[in-house]
Amino acid sequence: MESSMFGYFKTIGEVQGVISNATTLDEALQGGLKAIVEHVGAESAVIWYIDKAGDGKLHPYFWIGPIDLTSRSHEMGNGTVGRVYLSQKAERLLNFRTELDEETAADFAGMEVTSMVCVPFSNQFEDLGVIQFVNKTDGGQFTEEGADVMEIMAMMAAIALGENEALAEPWQPGEIVMSLRDITREFQNGDIVTKVLKGVNLDVYEGEFLVLLGESGCGKSTLLNIIGGMDQATSGSFTYLGRDISRATQTELTDFRRDNVGFIFQSYNLMPNLTALQNLKLIAELVNDPMDADKALEVVGLSERKQNYPSQMSGGQQQRVSIARALVKNPRIILADEPTAALDYATSIEVLQVMEEVVRGGTTMVMVTHNEEITRMADRVVRMRDGRMHEVTVNRHPAHATDLVW
Ligand SMILES: Nc1ncnc2c1ncn2[C@@H]1O[C@H](COP(=O)(O)OP(=O)(O)OP(=O)(O)O)[C@@H](O)[C@H]1O
Ligand SMILES: [Mg+2]
Repeated sequence: MESSMFGYFKTIGEVQGVISNATTLDEALQGGLKAIVEHVGAESAVIWYIDKAGDGKLHPYFWIGPIDLTSRSHEMGNGTVGRVYLSQKAERLLNFRTELDEETAADFAGMEVTSMVCVPFSNQFEDLGVIQFVNKTDGGQFTEEGADVMEIMAMMAAIALGENEALAEPWQPGEIVMSLRDITREFQNGDIVTKVLKGVNLDVYEGEFLVLLGESGCGKSTLLNIIGGMDQATSGSFTYLGRDISRATQTELTDFRRDNVGFIFQSYNLMPNLTALQNLKLIAELVNDPMDADKALEVVGLSERKQNYPSQMSGGQQQRVSIARALVKNPRIILADEPTAALDYATSIEVLQVMEEVVRGGTTMVMVTHNEEITRMADRVVRMRDGRMHEVTVNRHPAHATDLVW
């Protein structure tokens, strides 16, 4: 398809359609980039843009690929991207064997870069940024024709920009709480080895609401279990507040879990013979610096239910108790694996409202879901595909739980 003239024009037409039918700038740029990535079969693509009003550096606006660029940036002239921005000349590094410059290598840590195209984009008034494409998914090289499509895309993106509002300011992430590099996880059953995680590179930032999405079986729960210290990676490094815990002993992992992480699952796992309050107190006794159990129930709006047993509460109420149980630990980070999957719409919103309150109160939250609508609440959305990260989006204006409809 890529080699035919028809395919070439068809792609340009499609990209143009996506851009001109978009109602927001995000839709235009993200949709356009995705259409091209599909056509040229790129493993990774990044829209970089210049923050003229701020630090004057190039920041990633949106990207596709198994990488986390959230806090990366380049000075004008530095790295491939900075160089292309400064010269305003596209670079087609096809069949290249040279060493990457340090900055570019750091952007794509965990990937072996073998083919790259960088094109500048600007409107008639100013130079806006650079669009970068890295590696073909089939391991081959970008073609000159593929690179032509990328340059045309950059022109169309600039037109979209010229007629719309300016790009949002770069997101200012907090401190890095967790850092995953090249994380893999294999399971062995007899002679059969299944590779579930195939190299995950992800940073989790203090106070953020991160939502993880992806098809069933792509490795979301496996990843969450590693982040939470319930499971260990086969290879790669995992640091928590700068401390490497990828090779921690079982005892160290248990301590890590107990002191730092709260879990919320799809099933509530409450002790049936204990009241809501007793369920919380049981946990409070195990940790160093617990939140008051009554206070935790108040946060989730269940003070008058504290003497109820799980069987005397609805699914949504039980899930709120399980959120309170996570809160009681006063954890730095809460991990939630499809917490609303078993709940109806109205009850899900109630539960999400509580989670919103918790994360906006400063607790870092990583939540796995199948529900596309829930991504609107997140600060960042990570889409996984087949054991790797595929796409990371920063939400400049996260929605409230009460705004969600499905
Ligand atoms: N202990 C294990 N032994 C062998 N295979 C496993 C094990 N745990 C998970 N897997 C496999 O790893 C893959 C990913 O599982 P995981 O539970 O992480 O997926 P998921 O993305 O959470 O899916 P879902 O959306 O259905 O919950 C699946 O194919 C699963 O069968
Ligand atoms: Mg799962």
